[in-house]
Amino acid sequence: MAFDQDERHPARRRQNRMDAPASARENQTLNPEVANISERGLCESLRPLHFSEYVGQRNEVSNIQVFVKAAAMRGEALCHLLLSGPPGLGKTTLAQICANELGVNIRSTSGPAIEKKGDLAGLLTSLEPRDVLFSDEIHRLNPVIEENLYPAMEDFAFDVIVGEGPGARTIKLDLPRFTLIGATTRPDLLTNPLRDRFGHVARLEYYTPEDLEQIVRRSARLLNIAIEEDAVAEVGRRSRGTPRIANRLLARLRDFANVQGLASITKSLAAESLGMLGIDSKGFDRMDHRLLETIILKFDGGPVGLKTLAAATGEHENTIEDVYEPYLIQQGFIQRTPSGRRATRRAYEHLGIDPASSVCGRGQRGLFEE
Ligand SMILES: Nc1ncnc2c1ncn2[C@@H]1O[C@H](COP(=O)(O)OP(=O)(O)OP(=O)(O)O)[C@@H](O)[C@H]1O
Ligand SMILES: [Mg+2]
Repeated sequence: MAFDQDERHPARRRQNRMDAPASARENQTLNPEVANISERGLCESLRPLHFSEYVGQRNEVSNIQVFVKAAAMRGEALCHLLLSGPPGLGKTTLAQICANELGVNIRSTSGPAIEKKGDLAGLLTSLEPRDVLFSDEIHRLNPVIEENLYPAMEDFAFDVIVGEGPGARTIKLDLPRFTLIGATTRPDLLTNPLRDRFGHVARLEYYTPEDLEQIVRRSARLLNIAIEEDAVAEVGRRSRGTPRIANRLLARLRDFANVQGLASITKSLAAESLGMLGIDSKGFDRMDHRLLETIILKFDGGPVGLKTLAAATGEHENTIEDVYEPYLIQQGFIQRTPSGRRATRRAYEHLGIDPASSVCGRGQRGLFEE
């Protein structure tokens, strides 16, 4: 299926959430209010609906706010936007906010879901003027679909071939003026012609601990969970610069607090529980550790190629590249060199490994779980 009808409008989605059957709801926790939010819907429930609720990314957000305001003033469609950045940083959220603030529908799809030209035609012709078409993973569009998207984006036209053989002819369909918002975790994989057709390209960055603290406070308020300021800081520090992770950790801490019968999330509960979840002081989890330890202990600190690293850790190449590596690189624990990935001095220091004795078989083996 090429799109998800339920995602058409944020206000409608919110209504749908409120109508969720009791069986789908989470058990009562610290507060009866919390019982109305299912685990599955947690992400949706905490998703900001307006620019005013969207924390951080100030430069990008203020630019986009101007474009949205200008489009609304002129009664026109917003320019096509490309949102790039690692998973969980708020690309989908921002797209939904744009549609919400413009008061238009949003149709959601993803690059690989548009398999045939007919899928794209169906999507485009079902849009109303000024609607937003949101495509996740836009870097994974197939080339034929991508070529058909160019005239749609540029001229709001779509060529349909009618008939077969020598009698076949092309009919140009006029499309409503719409906005394409594309999201990608891999802007480097986008072709230039596609990138050039976006009116604005916004690159979302990892959030500061202070921004994440603000997100945790907001989410705790929405979930009606009491959390001490020291615990807020602990979650902010350990969320890998990512709001989705901050919200997930907050939800897990709520679980620990419930089971221990605590009325609020304290700093000691946060530190202890995050440790039990395998999240270290920098927010690195077991997979981050495995990656760093593999590079250091099995490959003498690198360089090691991505394929080899994937085979040695048992993790998929794409997941290493899209999910784990960007944060480790941004934090200065891994370097990406032409000959492969290399662990930095910081990585050795963080894991407490002496660079002089780090080769497998020369001690330190215990750090890497086989
Ligand atoms: N700026 C923000 N302020 C507050 N909460 C945010 C912000 N950005 C993201 N979130 C929260 O994080 C969750 C994940 O964000 P979102 O789904 O938009 O990320 P994404 O970039 O689309 O991720 P993916 O690449 O995996 O699709 C949202 O449900 C929302 O609750
Ligand atoms: Mg998304």
